[in-house]
Amino acid sequence: MQSITTSAPGKLLLMGEHAVVYDHPCIVTAVNHRMKIRLFLTDDNQMTLNAPDVEVMNYQKSVSSLVSHDMPKGAQFVEIAVRNFFQTYHLKQGINITSTSDFSSQFGFGSSSAVTVATIKALSEIFDKSMSDRELFDLSYKTVLDIQGKGSGFDVAAAVYGGTLFFVTGGKRIEPISVQNIPLVVGYTGVKADTVKIIERVKKIADQYPIFVEGIYGLIEELVKEAKTCLEKNNFAEFGKLMIMNQGLLESLGVSTEKLSQMNSGAIKAGAYGAKLSGAGGGDCMIAVAPAEKRSEVSTAIEKSGGTIIDVQTNTNGIRVE
Ligand code: PMV
Repeated sequence: MQSITTSAPGKLLLMGEHAVVYDHPCIVTAVNHRMKIRLFLTDDNQMTLNAPDVEVMNYQKSVSSLVSHDMPKGAQFVEIAVRNFFQTYHLKQGINITSTSDFSSQFGFGSSSAVTVATIKALSEIFDKSMSDRELFDLSYKTVLDIQGKGSGFDVAAAVYGGTLFFVTGGKRIEPISVQNIPLVVGYTGVKADTVKIIERVKKIADQYPIFVEGIYGLIEELVKEAKTCLEKNNFAEFGKLMIMNQGLLESLGVSTEKLSQMNSGAIKAGAYGAKLSGAGGGDCMIAVAPAEKRSEVSTAIEKSGGTIIDVQTNTNGIRVE
């Protein structure tokens, strides 16, 4: 039985969160924690899914009735990815899919977008439908929007293209940034963030104070552009200063938490160039950029502030067939 295995990387948002939902740029890097999809064809007209990491075992649905409701949460992205792929290419065929993850879906590393991209890539391979990276991005982004209704697509871009990207909402710009390995220290808060809820909260503030929030987004955009230049020069000391300013603007939107702020200030006191939350806020991870000789002090300080250090390499490969 012929099977295809694909894998797509998770991501860390380096700068520009929230503003990127509203037509501003962000910088995202792909990380070495990957989602893997193994897929083979069956003749039973069913989609069978096993996703042990999210406790989905032997989930089955007729390929004629793939819908965006009435399914366990852990199956959503795969199921809608299959539906959208079949609709696009006018296909219907039994398939068996197993998804496995290198990382916990709690970290906020983008497991949903990575599993979506890996599923669509695996389908395109097994059905011999050649898709460009752009087509893979577009169909995967549509899938994420079908389920979440919100999101800029930065995480989908990281899963497809890999590396470190300058990204504008919906993929209006997706440009690789040439940077060496970023000396990042990643601290997990232990709290799972609800991205969609936080986006809605920020939208309420923006509806009430559009001028202020647009002003904040404008400043975030300037920081992102400056940060891109710093990364291209591998100037992490300056990049760190910009991270601190970005964190301040995120605090003003109310998306940081006491724990995130403590972890950030602990890291900076211990010698990091800069630190900030990464992603929607409300929990998940913070990131610090630190000189090599301060790395272990910075890690200890983050742990003392209640965080868990996650070993992460940045700037890694995008989607691939294994
Ligand atoms: O919480 P995460 O890691 O999925 O990041 C969300 C970042 C936002 O800018 C708030 C949303 C988005 O889709 O860009």
